Amino acid sequence: MTIKLLGVASSLRENSSSTAALTITLDLSKKYGAQTRLLNLKQTKLPLYDPNESQTSTELQKVEEDVEWADAIILATPDYHGSMSGVMKNFLDYFWSEFAGKTFGYICASHEKGLTVMDHMRTSVRQCYGWSLPYGISVSDGSDLKDGKIISQRLKSRLEMLARDLVVYGSLLRQQFVTDLDSDLPTFAAHYRK
Ligand SMILES: Cc1cc2nc3c(=O)[nH]c(=O)nc-3n(C[C@H](O)[C@H](O)[C@H](O)COP(=O)(O)O)c2cc1C
Repeated sequence: MTIKLLGVASSLRENSSSTAALTITLDLSKKYGAQTRLLNLKQTKLPLYDPNESQTSTELQKVEEDVEWADAIILATPDYHGSMSGVMKNFLDYFWSEFAGKTFGYICASHEKGLTVMDHMRTSVRQCYGWSLPYGISVSDGSDLKDGKIISQRLKSRLEMLARDLVVYGSLLRQQFVTDLDSDLPTFAAHYRK
C-alpha cells in the first residue's frame, strides 16, 4: 500500500522549529514511498471547538478531509508549559473515531526534551484508539535547527528514523485495521464497522 501521511503543525510562530522539523520529516518519508500532506494550523485556522454548535467552515472542511485522508499522522507542537500548544489541543478536540487504527508520530520543539508534552498528545490519541510510535522527537532551536535547516546530525538521523518507522509500522497497522473492519473477528475494530 502507498501510505498517506499527514503532518499537523501547531505553532503560530514565524520560523517555527517544530514546523520545520515536521516539513523535513514529511520530505524524508517520500523516499520510503509515502504520499504526504502538511496541515499547518497557522494558515488553516480552526475556531475554538464548541460542542454546542454544529460548526462548519471551509477551514474545518479542509481539516476534516485531511484527517479522513490520512493513514498515519505526525503531530508537531512547541512545548508550552510542559504541554502541547492550545492550537494542537483544539485540533485534537474536533476528532475521535477518525483517529482509530491510525499510527501517530510526535515532534516537540522544547528546551527540555518535551517528554510530558508528547505524553499528553499520546494520551489524547490513545483515548481515540489511535496507535503511537513508542518514542518522540525533541527539537531544540539553536542547537538542532538554525533558520529552518538541520544543524545536528543526530536530529537528522532521528527524523529519518521517524519517517521510516511511520511508513513501515503505520502501513502494517492500518492495513490490519482496514482488514478487520471487513471481518467478523473479535477485535476493537469491530466498534468502527459501518
Ligand atoms: C507560552 C510559552 C510557554 C513555553 N513553555 C516552555 C516550557 O515549559 N519548556 C520549554 O522548554 N520551552 C517553553 N517555551 C519555549 C518554546 O517551547 C520554544 O521556544 C519552542 O522552540 C517553540 O517552538 P516553535 O518554534 O515550533 O514555535 C514556551 C514558550 C511559550 C511562548
